[in-house]
Amino acid sequence: MSDSQRKILVTSALPYANGSPHMGHLVEYIQTDIWVRFQKLRGHDCIYVCASDSHGTPIMLKARELGITPEELTEGFSKEFVSDFADFGIEFDNYHTTHSPENEEIVGRMYQALRERGDIYTRTIEQSYDEKEGMFLPDRFVKGTCPRCKSEDQYGDACEVCGATYAPEDLIDPKSVLSGTTPIKRESEHYFFKLSEYEERLRNWMTVAKLDKNVVAKLDEWFDAGLQDWDISRDAPYFGFRIPGTEDKYFYVWLDAPVGYMASFKHLCDRTAGLEFDDYWKADSDTELYHFIGKDIMYFHTLFWPAVLEGSGFRTPTSVYAHGFLTVDGQKMSKSRGTFIKARTYLDNLNPEVLRYYYAAKLGPTIEDIDLNLEDFIARVNSDLVGKLVNIASRCAGFIGKRFEGRLADTLADGALFAEIADASEVIAQHYEKREFSKAMRLIMALADKANRYIDEHKPWIMAKDEDRLPEVQLVCTQGINMFRSLMVYLSPVIPGVASGARAFLNESKWQWQDASSPLLGETLSKFKPLLTRVEADQVARVVEQSKESKPVTDTEQQDDYISIDDFAKVDLRIARIEKAESVEGADKLLALTLDVGDNQRQVFAGIKAAYDPATLVGRHVIVVANLAPRKMRFGVSEGMVLAAGPGGEDIFLLSPDEGAKPGMRVK
Ligand code: MSP
Ligand code: ZN
Repeated sequence: MSDSQRKILVTSALPYANGSPHMGHLVEYIQTDIWVRFQKLRGHDCIYVCASDSHGTPIMLKARELGITPEELTEGFSKEFVSDFADFGIEFDNYHTTHSPENEEIVGRMYQALRERGDIYTRTIEQSYDEKEGMFLPDRFVKGTCPRCKSEDQYGDACEVCGATYAPEDLIDPKSVLSGTTPIKRESEHYFFKLSEYEERLRNWMTVAKLDKNVVAKLDEWFDAGLQDWDISRDAPYFGFRIPGTEDKYFYVWLDAPVGYMASFKHLCDRTAGLEFDDYWKADSDTELYHFIGKDIMYFHTLFWPAVLEGSGFRTPTSVYAHGFLTVDGQKMSKSRGTFIKARTYLDNLNPEVLRYYYAAKLGPTIEDIDLNLEDFIARVNSDLVGKLVNIASRCAGFIGKRFEGRLADTLADGALFAEIADASEVIAQHYEKREFSKAMRLIMALADKANRYIDEHKPWIMAKDEDRLPEVQLVCTQGINMFRSLMVYLSPVIPGVASGARAFLNESKWQWQDASSPLLGETLSKFKPLLTRVEADQVARVVEQSKESKPVTDTEQQDDYISIDDFAKVDLRIARIEKAESVEGADKLLALTLDVGDNQRQVFAGIKAAYDPATLVGRHVIVVANLAPRKMRFGVSEGMVLAAGPGGEDIFLLSPDEGAKPGMRVK
């Protein structure tokens, strides 16, 4: 039985309103929508709110570039989000914007509370300033040469080539992305939030919030590194909320963005009788609050956000559910390959229901990335949804319609088989609850296989040739349609459009989860209409074609397929001598190597244990990638990579230079 009625508030991350929704966004909004629909189907009181994230420097500058106001820009994209999401069956109870009076009011209140507690202080910092544009530059708006590996055209916060992190002024020959001029240093007073004082409370929250173990691992890493106070202010010009009591300071977009969750909910409360803001947000609220987010924004949601909520006297999230990133055909979405697919381009060519199913079939509760493999997509949805699921109904509906005036039999022919489907109810429900959607889909499809086998075995099309066996035909088809119906109930959070077509056929207006367990008997059905058609390869090909950008391929996009000679030159390959080689306790594949790289020694972990006896390696010369960003592993830091060839296991062959090569020599 389902537990007593829960009160649940659910959010998806607030999309930046300076671009169109794409297939990557949809992973999140579809995942959340399925979970919310499932909760509603179970009879819970579940509310789903979202909003556009409308503040920040990129939005301000994009609007400026287009010659419109930031309000106009974000309103335009918000409309796109609302209509594209709706067409994908994503049903928000409210969609708002962070640039709203509700948000400004709540942010102001929270800031005031934090100040009163002494959690806010000011400090003068030095920052890059563009004199020509008259503004301070965020790190990403300064570019120059990496101080470590000397790669050109790197952002002011980190080098994409060697992974070094630094401040913009550390760049060699830094330039403002806006004006091309050299930024100067300028002082300015900034407002800081004392995140460092929240470690213990955050550690407590982390244990009660039952976060996924990957998320916990990330948090542990951050705790180990030590929590830094958070700079929550930006100088004018900035598109955001002005900090009360200042002339020209604004709240950093990431301070007011998550408050947008509350503001959107407030906006809903103001229009809904009986819905009380405080019931959901007061410190001791007994309602549940979940944030669905992508793995890239965990820091904001698992550190800053719970700390700010706690500090300003509100409840903290029940949990934060992070998902991985979407790849298409195994790679990052790419405009040159036509795999950077906008939601609208998909909608112009394909049925949104099948994408919802495909994502569900791939999604689990972890931050593992998920791949949209276009060939597999076509095969999977055709086989599962058309071949298995809808097929059950279409094989039975005709007989009931034509031979029995649409009337179902009064009993089930195979009660045990129906019970098997009904009994899976709680297991499937638990999978949904835990966001184990792929497990739920697998189980439902295994049951669909059984239903099809039943029809194959009883062959109503043969019975129907014999007038004496007609009652049997009605029984078998009634059994088939009921199995289909129960499976459709289970799948209705995933494919609500198909489910509503099925309900129309079954003459039912609404389903609840328990309906899957009680058969529909003796009722009259409507005419059966095809619920879903096959996905054809050329529909998908069209989507890809329409997503290709014809403009000349830019540097970064070219990188997807090729690297330039300059890129290659960035790889610092060196000869190294193995000084020491040891097994690593707790790792069955790794050896810890101490390498002499000419002017320094370093430690590198290599997965070559199955192929080499460590004793034979000492003194051997190998080739090493010397400027690979150091990587923290469970056993220590690995400072480079040793080159080897082969498929792995025992078949791994270290690349060795000829005699005469000395440690430190560059490989050309
Ligand atoms: N505005 C912030 C979120 C503020 S929440 C208080 C933001 N916006 S976003 O538009 O960049 O992303 C919105 C959500 O979509 C994020 O959770 C992000 O992780 C997710 N995704 C964006 N691209 C994605 C993929 N390619 N794959 C999967 N999810 C992705 O971040
Ligand atoms: Zn670098």
